Amino acid sequence: MKARPIIFDTDPGIDDATAITIAVRNPELDVKLLSTVGANVEVEKTTLNALKLTEFLGVDIPVARGCGEPLIRKLRPCPEVHGITGMDGYEFPPVTGKPLEKHAVEAMRDVIMNSEEKITLVVIGTHTNIAILFRMYPEVKDRIEEIVTMGGGLTGGNTNSTAEFNIYNDPHAAAMVFNSGVPVTMLGLNVTNEARLYREDAEAIDASGRAGHMIYSLLNHYRDAFLDGGLRIHDSVAVAYILRPDLFKTEMLPIEIALEGPAAGTTVCDFRAMQRGEKEANVKVVTEVDPEGYKQWIIDEFRRED
Ligand code: RIB
Ligand code: CA
Repeated sequence: MKARPIIFDTDPGIDDATAITIAVRNPELDVKLLSTVGANVEVEKTTLNALKLTEFLGVDIPVARGCGEPLIRKLRPCPEVHGITGMDGYEFPPVTGKPLEKHAVEAMRDVIMNSEEKITLVVIGTHTNIAILFRMYPEVKDRIEEIVTMGGGLTGGNTNSTAEFNIYNDPHAAAMVFNSGVPVTMLGLNVTNEARLYREDAEAIDASGRAGHMIYSLLNHYRDAFLDGGLRIHDSVAVAYILRPDLFKTEMLPIEIALEGPAAGTTVCDFRAMQRGEKEANVKVVTEVDPEGYKQWIIDEFRRED
């Protein structure tokens, strides 16, 4: 079966690193590009981290540096979760390569327009690059299979009581993408908080080999809950959905994004209006995950032969 071509738009980020490592090592996926954005940490650091990953994994996947700031709001990075480097916990060898000269938006356009097959965009940071891509090169929209994005949620936030980090940091970009007409599948905190890894699972990943040990070392510094209480490796759930949709349930729902005020960045689903036919569903929302299936999946992924 031909591998599915994907682009990661990413802010590595320890959970991003987990998602990217799994995808790069799975023959069902063909990772064409890592385009970076400033979010977990500044874009200089997320770009360096993307290079650390491609060189550690020994893969010739181009890295293109993207936007450092959201469209309108001021970026609020979270080094307290991922560490000052954005990927604290593992001593990567010094990076020898460089990102592409061209901006991530140009790089994404080139990959998308030169691909025989439609590309899946896996958006696991803010949506800033994607919003600008659609504004500058609307012709790419027809060449995109689907946007699978980790962001938002239906049951509360992690940056404040209602907003999830990726949408919170650039709600305007997310609104542009969610209303772009390109099919969007949203993996929000309502499912990624349920897909947890515990100490025994992380130790199985550690014992699986070189890549697993690197990820385990990062996870020991990742501060989105704790190993004994259940780590939430949010971005990895987006890759789980692509590779194992049988572990999930979805529903087409009307998602609007609050742009102003204290709830800015909240993904709002007006169930009542949809039931009354007053609002159209615009997003495929992942509503359920099989937590045991997810745990077994991620351990099996790291047990793949290098
Ligand atoms: O809210 C979790 C999301 O924000 C993840 O993508 C994490 O990497 C951060 O970017
Ligand atoms: Ca991320």
